[in-house]
Amino acid sequence: MHDQLKDKTIFITGSGGVLGSTYVRRMLAAGARVVASDLKGHRADALVESHGENPNFRFYDLDVGQEDEVVAIFQRIMADGWEPNVVLNNAAITGELLMGAGKAFPDFANTSVEDWEKTLRTNMTGAFMIARQMDRDIVGRYPATLINVASMYALNGPHHQIYKDMPFKSFSAYSATKAGIHGLTLWLAGYWAKRNATVNTIAPGAVFNGHSDEFQRRVGELIMAGRMAAPDEIADAMLFLCSAQSGYMTGQLVNVDGGFSGW
Ligand SMILES: NC(=O)c1ccc[n+]([C@@H]2O[C@H](COP(=O)([O-])OP(=O)(O)OC[C@H]3O[C@@H](n4cnc5c(N)ncnc54)[C@H](O)[C@@H]3O)[C@@H](O)[C@H]2O)c1
Repeated sequence: MHDQLKDKTIFITGSGGVLGSTYVRRMLAAGARVVASDLKGHRADALVESHGENPNFRFYDLDVGQEDEVVAIFQRIMADGWEPNVVLNNAAITGELLMGAGKAFPDFANTSVEDWEKTLRTNMTGAFMIARQMDRDIVGRYPATLINVASMYALNGPHHQIYKDMPFKSFSAYSATKAGIHGLTLWLAGYWAKRNATVNTIAPGAVFNGHSDEFQRRVGELIMAGRMAAPDEIADAMLFLCSAQSGYMTGQLVNVDGGFSGW
């Protein structure tokens, strides 16, 4: 639908990743104005290269873990003439990102407090600071919605055996933050209800991003649909949550996981 989001100005964090960049492409195609942000660096550069010429696209460098940057972000965007009515807490540090490519992945017993806290800082505290700033600068001034991003590993535990001999593992702090973010959604839903703001959580399933055939087979057996998701299949649900069609939903967790959580 090319005009599904025509009245929406969407602010998205961590937008240079596999899902974020898909959301940006689909949101622009659905008629939204998109205010993208990410850490400074190659992911952001690729996004700006793809959409920089589009008058409905803007990009800001933003580290969601830096309080001074988050506190200033909406005022900066608004001063530039963009008033976001949809905010998407998408940025996250995954296990792979935390460790860096090629580094050995620690098991639970060897997980450092430093790595645990780094993950909490981005995934939870970052999301909290964005929501708090939205409360200060947007909520109550005009109707708005916040979408928090969880995971199929928020309210369901991983089957650890599927990661045996894989170069990546499921990371404990990741699951803890993804469960926690839905707590933030539930808390805010009632808190904002009388001020014309809604908040929901999306919980994407396993998204294909070049995984080996063996990993796809192992995870596929745990999913009713029998396979990993394409990024566009997660974007379909995300666009609905951003649109006016989800206006009567608040405080909900939407699983888009091919049935992983439904067995
Ligand atoms: N891909 C999946 O299978 C999957 C499944 C469930 C949930 N998710 C969630 O969906 C969201 C997007 O995931 P993705 O697959 O695109 O991941 P990704 O790793 O490809 O992208 C994450 C993005 O967040 C950015 N980021 C990291 N730290 C940041 C910080 N401090 N400030 C700002 N940006 C920061 C990264 O630069 C990156 O562009 C995440 O919240 C992730 O947890 C993904």
